[in-house]
Amino acid sequence: MINGERTISQPLRWGMVGGGRTGQVGYKHRTGALRDSTYRLVAGAFDLNAARGRDFGINLGVSEDRCYATYQELICGERSREDGVDVVSVATPNFTHYEITKALLEANIHVICEKPLFFSTAECEEIAALAERKELIVGVTYGFTGHPMVRQMAAMVARGMLGEIRLVDMQYTHGFNAGDDADAPDAVKWRTNPKTAGATFVLGDIGTHVYYLSEIVLPHLKVEKLLCDRKAFIPSRAPLEDHATVLMHYDNGARGRLWVSSVNAGNMGSQRYRFIGSKASVEWSDSHPDQLIYEVQGEPVRIMHHGMLYLEEESLAIDRMGALHTEGLGDSWANIYLWIAQAIDAKARGDEAFLKTHHYPGIKAGTDGVRWLENCVRSADAGAAWVDFK
Ligand code: NAI
Repeated sequence: MINGERTISQPLRWGMVGGGRTGQVGYKHRTGALRDSTYRLVAGAFDLNAARGRDFGINLGVSEDRCYATYQELICGERSREDGVDVVSVATPNFTHYEITKALLEANIHVICEKPLFFSTAECEEIAALAERKELIVGVTYGFTGHPMVRQMAAMVARGMLGEIRLVDMQYTHGFNAGDDADAPDAVKWRTNPKTAGATFVLGDIGTHVYYLSEIVLPHLKVEKLLCDRKAFIPSRAPLEDHATVLMHYDNGARGRLWVSSVNAGNMGSQRYRFIGSKASVEWSDSHPDQLIYEVQGEPVRIMHHGMLYLEEESLAIDRMGALHTEGLGDSWANIYLWIAQAIDAKARGDEAFLKTHHYPGIKAGTDGVRWLENCVRSADAGAAWVDFK
């Protein structure tokens, strides 16, 4: 169980680029980072609007001289200090991730970046090589995979409790973009423009979360082929999609189905995952993240609850609230941030043995997501054809 006690040698001096007052995801980062005495927020270039960003940073407790107008100024200012930032989170629109991450790494600063990581696997590979050369960590905020019940599913699959995996059924949908974009906020405008979002809308925006979660639960399975059918129900969003279905063939013969949509009008169920084996199935939804449905063929349905001693040790080890008390998205993000802090700490200590077995969403996870997107686009552009996964 996690109780907030520091597990690294020194708190990390932490900065943010983006995630300002009007940003959607910034607070999730701060909720995750500022929980376990592992990070102290000391600097930021929080906003494209420099004055608003400065005012916001001051209200967060950052000293005025470390609230910068741009990420370039942040790098310059922090490099000139002995107590400059150790790590910076990048919570800006997709098209800026690559250039900001690269500049931070070149300045010897660890990076925690939003998904989808970059626009291409070539960019991911270049950044991976740079991070390795500089001995720096790149973390990726797949914020849903720190839930204890996600680790419970992974542990149950690993222990063979479901038998051989046959079917994977996954969904991340909402209806927030069911109408047109005439009066859409900036966060929708940049998401529906290929120049700022990349080659996909919902596949990258929400599908990458789903794909990564499936990698956590099924690390032993690889996708061999996939078919992606995507469509823009609001024509102005084309060539980007607001809806997609992806069928996948895994290397053990299992079949997968993944549905992402932002035009599922009225839907508030968001994410649902069902992993089906030859003996049993597990089902999890982020609407009830601290529960897991476990169904063994021929037996009554079981609903497992977080924090209970019948769970696997991997799940109990990352529980924060204890059974009976609600555990949620903030706790999941706190786990992700903690794992990344431990990776940065180990890197700084040169503890490669720890890093070999330590699990956190890093550059490989980010790259896998981008590679999956490239395969989806290749299939969709070929008329929803089956393609070999490259
Ligand atoms: P947003 O448009 O709501 O906010 C972006 C923020 O970044 C704003 O504060 C803006 O002023 C600031 N900004 C933009 N360019 C900047 C620059 N060059 N320098 C400094 N600040 C800059 O966007 P949102 O929805 O917060 O998404 C940001 C990123 O986070 C995207 O990559 C998105 O895919 C990802 N995201 C991830 C989530 C997750 O669960 N991991 C959830 C929501 C978004």
